[in-house]
Amino acid sequence: MNIFILLGAPGAGKGTVAAIVSPSLGARHVSTGAMLREAVKSGTAAGLSAKAYMDAGELVPDSVLVAMIEELMVASPSDATFVLDGFPRTVPQAEALDALAVRHGANVVRAICLDVPDALIMDRLGGRRVCPACGMGFHIANIPPKREGVCDACDTALILRADDQPETIRNRLIVYAKQTAPLIDFYTRQGKLMNVDASGTVEDNVPRVLAVMR
Ligand code: AP5
Repeated sequence: MNIFILLGAPGAGKGTVAAIVSPSLGARHVSTGAMLREAVKSGTAAGLSAKAYMDAGELVPDSVLVAMIEELMVASPSDATFVLDGFPRTVPQAEALDALAVRHGANVVRAICLDVPDALIMDRLGGRRVCPACGMGFHIANIPPKREGVCDACDTALILRADDQPETIRNRLIVYAKQTAPLIDFYTRQGKLMNVDASGTVEDNVPRVLAVMR
């Protein structure tokens, strides 16, 4: 099992890049945010307990996420490759991932950090629209749907994510700086960190990310 980790602030473009690079690597794109949103929608116990944290822009407890990732590893073939988007997000999650990798014979190959200036982040998140049915993401100016307000893939009306309100975005950026940015040092110390300038267009960023994954 091979694991690539995408790091980066909220709105850096992790989900957008992961959705494009994963198929070309024969990898599975694993977004813990999407998994949690699905759990909220289905009303599972994990989803109900996660909702309040997510709506406030806070992190869901580590134990919930580590259990989700272990479940995924146990259910996957030994030759699977994963692109993790949104996990790990704290040093304890990264330590737990290392322990899971040992237990399940997986290899954390690389952590790729998407670098984007704060001013671009606010614009990317403020303009994001998502499909509540299939999860496809758009941006009103940068990556607009073919028909305004409607998902290209399934024709459902697009929505603003609950945590993309300006106040919640600000808190997510504070939480990122406090709890997730220390992972940059964590993976630098392991010799696994690669920084990628992700301030360009999607077409610019995808080959840059693929270049450090291969
Ligand atoms: P999650 O869904 O992971 O949110 P996030 O990390 O805040 O990341 P985003 O999805 O907001 O941004 P992104 O980097 O994927 O950017 P995107 O590609 O969409 O997590 C949500 C919540 O779940 C968390 O707050 C937390 O509560 C919980 N959670 C999840 N994982 C957890 C964990 N491990 N531990 C604890 N809690 C956890 O792009 C953003 C916008 O920009 C889009 O509109 C896109 O179209 C546009 N865009 C992308 N690239 C470009 C580009 N190059 N140029 C122009 N526009 C672009």
